[in-house]
Amino acid sequence: MKNMKLTIPDIIAKKGVEKISMLTAYDVSFARLLDSQGVDMILVGDSLGMVVLGYESTVPVTMDEMIHHAKAVRRGSDAFIVGDMPFLSYQVDTTEAIRNAGRFCKEAGCDAVKLEGGVEVCDTVHAIVEAGISVVGHIGLTPQTASQLGGYKVQGKDVESARKMLRDAQALDEAGAFSIVLECIPDALARSITASVSVPTIGIGAGPHCDGQVLVTHDLLGMFDKFVPSFVKKYAHLAPQMKEAIGAFVQEVKSGTFPDEEHSFSMKIDVEKLMDDEEK
Ligand code: KIV
Repeated sequence: MKNMKLTIPDIIAKKGVEKISMLTAYDVSFARLLDSQGVDMILVGDSLGMVVLGYESTVPVTMDEMIHHAKAVRRGSDAFIVGDMPFLSYQVDTTEAIRNAGRFCKEAGCDAVKLEGGVEVCDTVHAIVEAGISVVGHIGLTPQTASQLGGYKVQGKDVESARKMLRDAQALDEAGAFSIVLECIPDALARSITASVSVPTIGIGAGPHCDGQVLVTHDLLGMFDKFVPSFVKKYAHLAPQMKEAIGAFVQEVKSGTFPDEEHSFSMKIDVEKLMDDEEK
């Protein structure tokens, strides 16, 4: 099922023709799993901070942490990989933004970067694109600034914020973003935005009318029994199975039933006799 790596024109050409699949990975084993199923794009999301590193939000995630994990993902996959620019890696000035975006490409072999924000980040998006690095936009619920948005809740529900989001999407399109993530917005607004931009929209909690869909892989696999957003469909419930397997290991170690003969190595020499002979 593994595909040829997509190019930017391939991805843009899918708009209105074929839905785009995108999933997150933070390490080599998940990258290999996603690759084996022909996912169109892999996102090394800054959700890394909450999913893998145990932070309370995505805000503390650093460039070095992102690069470390993006490198591991690249080792496991030939697919199109997007590196997520962490908080304050692109807001200070455009020079720093270009340098940090460049690190994802030069050090980790990413094919593009993603950054959060609308009109206010368009100069930065344009500068990164001009430097030769492809950019995915991200509007709606933007987790890095969730506290300014009133927390992790649906965005764009009133006329003013819906209009602003439409303007943000169009501005990102004009600035050169080659696709735009729409997070946690009403499906009718996602449909209008999708119709009003020339590049594919990738939805997460944004209904069925987007050009593609993205989820956090750990969420869709049901690897957490802590909070999972209501828009996530769990395609598996692995947490109970994983806990059961770990519990069984602990019990078998305690009782001495693991390792058994099947999981041990034998040898033809009689070691006890050998030891006895050595002592003589
Ligand atoms: O960091 C992330 O995983 C993301 C997706 C949820 C879109 O930004």
